[in-house]
Amino acid sequence: MGYVIYGRGSFNQLDDIIAPHRKAGAPMVFLVDHFFEGKPLASRVPLRNNDKIIFVDVTYEPKTTYVDSLATQLKDEFGTISGVIGIGGGSAMDLAKAVSLMMNNPGSSADYQGWDLVKQAGVYKVGVPTLSGTGAEVSRTTVLTGPTKKLGMNSDFTPFDQIVLDPELTADAPANQRFYTGMDCYIHCIESLTGTYLNEFSKSYGEKALQLCREVYVDKNGWDADSDAKLMMASYAGGMSIAYSQVGVAHAVSYGLSYLLGTKHGVGNCIVFDKLEEYYPEGVKEFKLMVAKNNIDIPQHICAGLSDEDFGKMINVSLGMRPLWENALGKDWEKIITKKKLRALYEQL
Ligand SMILES: NC(=O)c1ccc[n+]([C@@H]2O[C@H](COP(=O)([O-])OP(=O)(O)OC[C@H]3O[C@@H](n4cnc5c(N)ncnc54)[C@H](O)[C@@H]3O)[C@@H](O)[C@H]2O)c1
Ligand SMILES: [Fe+2]
Repeated sequence: MGYVIYGRGSFNQLDDIIAPHRKAGAPMVFLVDHFFEGKPLASRVPLRNNDKIIFVDVTYEPKTTYVDSLATQLKDEFGTISGVIGIGGGSAMDLAKAVSLMMNNPGSSADYQGWDLVKQAGVYKVGVPTLSGTGAEVSRTTVLTGPTKKLGMNSDFTPFDQIVLDPELTADAPANQRFYTGMDCYIHCIESLTGTYLNEFSKSYGEKALQLCREVYVDKNGWDADSDAKLMMASYAGGMSIAYSQVGVAHAVSYGLSYLLGTKHGVGNCIVFDKLEEYYPEGVKEFKLMVAKNNIDIPQHICAGLSDEDFGKMINVSLGMRPLWENALGKDWEKIITKKKLRALYEQL
């Protein structure tokens, strides 16, 4: 990722920040989380000339078909564009990263789901988070659900050129959603810090992020501006931590839920992590404490009534996340997490 601006009210600098990247006749395109349609933030988006604002539908997590249709629409309308600015949670930011790449790479975004398949840099791209926790603002991936898999476009070209971290933008998010997304960060830290891929880079950032998560969700009573500021930096550090390591069991299992049931990333991770005492005993204990202290609801029994075929699909998606399992359980992970064992875990969710 390129440049970082941080601070309360820093969103007001967006106009100046993107100005040098404007190319004659080519608009800046703002992909804004549909939550903000008609809200004050939408009217603060610095539109100039033929700039365009698109309120992106994040009811479902980003799909390759949606990315492709956005990129095609922009190519048809403008030919080229100066840049893409993603404003929203992880979903809107991931859409912005993917659309930027697809403006300059042929074919479908589904062709690039994997590692280092993207060959051309995208157009200039900026990320502005309105929820903290995913680390999408710093990561080198954009997670997409495609025709056959849920997998990111992981590449050196994927990170944003610029991010604007303004903690004010997360202030009014609903407590449950803010917690689910915040726990994505907490879980990144636990998975990274206990993983076999751990190294000093990941450890340094992971420990800092974990400390900030604890200050927000364990030490403090209630939510204030300081909580927004801390969680935003936790997300940043947590994202940096997994840049050179990997996530683990919660993510591997929650990907299966998301693929079959459409369960969203943040809440899905919470549903799974809640049942992972065997793998992360201390983390899960602290997680339960944070859930209780912050009065959060974690959905239960979401796998009740699923068929054998359904379980089979989730198990296949999950076991396909090989690096995650290897990070969590070591080289011999396939001996530890059998299909039977994973089925039993899914049945608990
Ligand atoms: N690229 C990465 O490295 C990475 C990492 C983790 C997760 N992800 C992706 O991020 C997505 C999850 O992101 P998320 O947890 O931030 O949630 P999200 O972006 O899916 O948004 C969740 C909900 O919150 C709403 N919302 C966003 N900002 C708000 C605000 N300030 N106030 C009120 N509502 C608001 C959205 O409209 C949506 O309804 C998933 O698609 C996941 O795959 C990406
Ligand atoms: Fe995550």
